[in-house]
Amino acid sequence: MLNNIKCYLMKKEDLDYFKNHLSEFDEFWKFDLLKSEFENELTTCIIAKNEEDIVGFASLWEPPYEIHINNIFVKKDLRKNNIGSILLEKLIEIAKEKNKEELTLEVNINNIPAIKLYEKYNFIKVGIRKKYYNNEDDALIMNKKLI
Ligand SMILES: CC(C)(COP(=O)(O)OP(=O)(O)OC[C@H]1O[C@@H](n2cnc3c(N)ncnc32)[C@H](O)[C@@H]1OP(=O)(O)O)[C@@H](O)C(=O)NCCC(=O)NCCS
Repeated sequence: MLNNIKCYLMKKEDLDYFKNHLSEFDEFWKFDLLKSEFENELTTCIIAKNEEDIVGFASLWEPPYEIHINNIFVKKDLRKNNIGSILLEKLIEIAKEKNKEELTLEVNINNIPAIKLYEKYNFIKVGIRKKYYNNEDDALIMNKKLI
């Protein structure tokens, strides 16, 4: 297990890093999607670093009255080192600081690692969106009460 993981608000220079390194983290997310996420004023993006190395990313989206986890991803060769947990704990902390009552997310119903991660933090399954991903896979809707 890596033991010096810290989370930071994402900066422009971190975004630039992902331009050439995103494939080391995630297949689904493309750089333009990450950039629009970073530039969206309703979104909070954080990164996890091990010393100086970026090892993970996560984001929260905050439309009026709600707060959602948009994504969490960890560098492929460093998964199962608690980095996803540290990022998720930080997102929960930020949502609580914003006095939100619950945190919501959608996850591909076949994404067992992510579902297990969310269950570890007491997210519960509250619904399903049929064929949400590419008109094929269902999305599981999960919530966590914050108060
Ligand atoms: C999901 C993801 C972020 C987890 O990150 P991680 O750093 O590997 O997670 P952690 O090491 O903190 O593990 C936390 C828990 O998740 C579960 N978990 C993680 N990987 C798992 C796997 N491959 N299989 C089953 N459970 C797994 C375990 O319950 C684990 O708890 P434990 O350590 O107490 O056993 C990572 O797999 C990832 O980046 N996936 C690709 C992107 C993605 O699908 N993101 C989710 C979008 S909704």
